[in-house]
Amino acid sequence: MPNALLEVHNLTKIFPGIRALDDVHLTLRSGEVHALIGENGAGKSTLVKVLTGVYIPTSGTLTFEGKEVAFRNALDAQASGIVAIHQEASMFPELTVTENIFMGHHLRNPRTKKLDWKAMTEQTRQLLARMQLDIDPDTLVKNLSVAKRHMVEITKALSLDAKLVIMDEPTSALTGREVEDLFRIVRSLKEQGKAILFISHKFDEIFTICDYYTVFRDGQYIGEGKVAESNEDAIINMMIGRSIDQLYPEHQKQKGKEVLRIEKLCQLGAFKDISFTLHEGEVLGLFGLVGAGRSEVVRTIFGIDKSSGGSMHLLGEPFKPKGAKESMRRGIALVPEDRQKQGLVLKMSLTNNISLPVLKQLSFKGMVTSAGKERTYVQCHGNQMEIKSAGYHVDAETLSGGNQQKVVLAKWIGTSPKILILDEPTKGIDVATKAAVHQFVCDMAQKGVAVILISSELPEILGMSDRILVMHEGYQTAILDARKATAESVMKAAIATTVMEDTHA
Ligand SMILES: Nc1ncnc2c1ncn2[C@@H]1O[C@H](COP(=O)(O)OP(=O)(O)OP(=O)(O)O)[C@@H](O)[C@H]1O
Ligand SMILES: [Mg+2]
Repeated sequence: MPNALLEVHNLTKIFPGIRALDDVHLTLRSGEVHALIGENGAGKSTLVKVLTGVYIPTSGTLTFEGKEVAFRNALDAQASGIVAIHQEASMFPELTVTENIFMGHHLRNPRTKKLDWKAMTEQTRQLLARMQLDIDPDTLVKNLSVAKRHMVEITKALSLDAKLVIMDEPTSALTGREVEDLFRIVRSLKEQGKAILFISHKFDEIFTICDYYTVFRDGQYIGEGKVAESNEDAIINMMIGRSIDQLYPEHQKQKGKEVLRIEKLCQLGAFKDISFTLHEGEVLGLFGLVGAGRSEVVRTIFGIDKSSGGSMHLLGEPFKPKGAKESMRRGIALVPEDRQKQGLVLKMSLTNNISLPVLKQLSFKGMVTSAGKERTYVQCHGNQMEIKSAGYHVDAETLSGGNQQKVVLAKWIGTSPKILILDEPTKGIDVATKAAVHQFVCDMAQKGVAVILISSELPEILGMSDRILVMHEGYQTAILDARKATAESVMKAAIATTVMEDTHA
């Protein structure tokens, strides 16, 4: 085995009330893709932040290229050749792609010493072309989709010519072809002799792209080994200390009465002629590649965006919500995809986040919230989602990525909706909790709730849905009976350009 590029020994990081890392070890080698695996809250992102100088460790040592190092800040680590694509977006939305990519390492004209925007824009154009990305370097980052923003972050890492590239769940916002693009880039980084630390909850990705793995559980080092000499069951066992028998629970497929009827729904520039019905106790999967328009459709149903044509009927009555408040009042709940922007108030406690949609019910004489009621409510739903934190009083921003996602879910389950819309609910969630989320969706359906589930994961869509509506670039290309659908038939519809089949009743 080649020599180590980076070694972590006996590293501990303590936050108030939580030992995020407890005496962990990690060895990274050049030319190797190394998977860091563990449940939500295991300490993966914390280690990334220690390696990139964002956090100072409580104790332990880091050795980089044979020398002991201590990074005081992110620029220190960057100067040594360590760059990371963090789990949460770390770009400046109001700046352009070029400005973001060259942040912290601007190019200057060698003669005049002035910032050379022309050169930076040109280099950005070349880097984007190398990534085969169709993005204008002058676009403001806030105008890019989540997926494209991630790709820009990766482009930035490439521009820094690093020795170690760390990717903390880089694929959670990407689908299909974009993941393949990313893997192509990872392979080329590997060929150039760079070390890559890759964090993902998706086993197919780990087995496709990684050479070596290290597993953490509850902040502790559990073990390591060659990916080729291991298997999924063995790794899950190391992660959670037990095996998981069933990822997709069976639910009795009893369709109740029609709750929602959508006819030829349109939104200019986003989607066109979407038609489907939704029944009590039914799970309707919404599948498509990034940019297919799935999130836009559900945002329109929820009243955040306006439709430009077509009609909706809720329980037989015409429905045209003026805003989210009205849809919530009529029994619709939406768990959004982008938890950091739409789902959570990061600087607010878990308690306040979870009770936000039901504050009215918890209030006393319409004025003051009854603290006792609120506590019981929050604990009941928080515990159901197995949120790992130092307590319900801490701010949402101190939670690990997956645990933040669980808070978003907990926030909506108590609203007892008639229609529950989940936009990528298991994005960034570990295997064990994923199974819990699936069980929760089934329980809701069993109780008669109508569920719309958006997911980019084919097995999840196939395993959870009763019917699957497939979209391609704003068009509905198929509605399939999930019992008869296969990965091929769904994928075919997702990349098709013509309307293939319309079996909706
Ligand atoms: N700034 C912070 N303040 C307090 N606690 C924190 C902070 N950052 C992380 N933690 C805690 O440290 C633990 C490890 O979190 P970390 O983000 O490293 O988990 P993770 O393995 O990346 O999980 P995920 O898969 O959910 O992203 C969690 O319990 C988290 O709540
Ligand atoms: Mg994390």
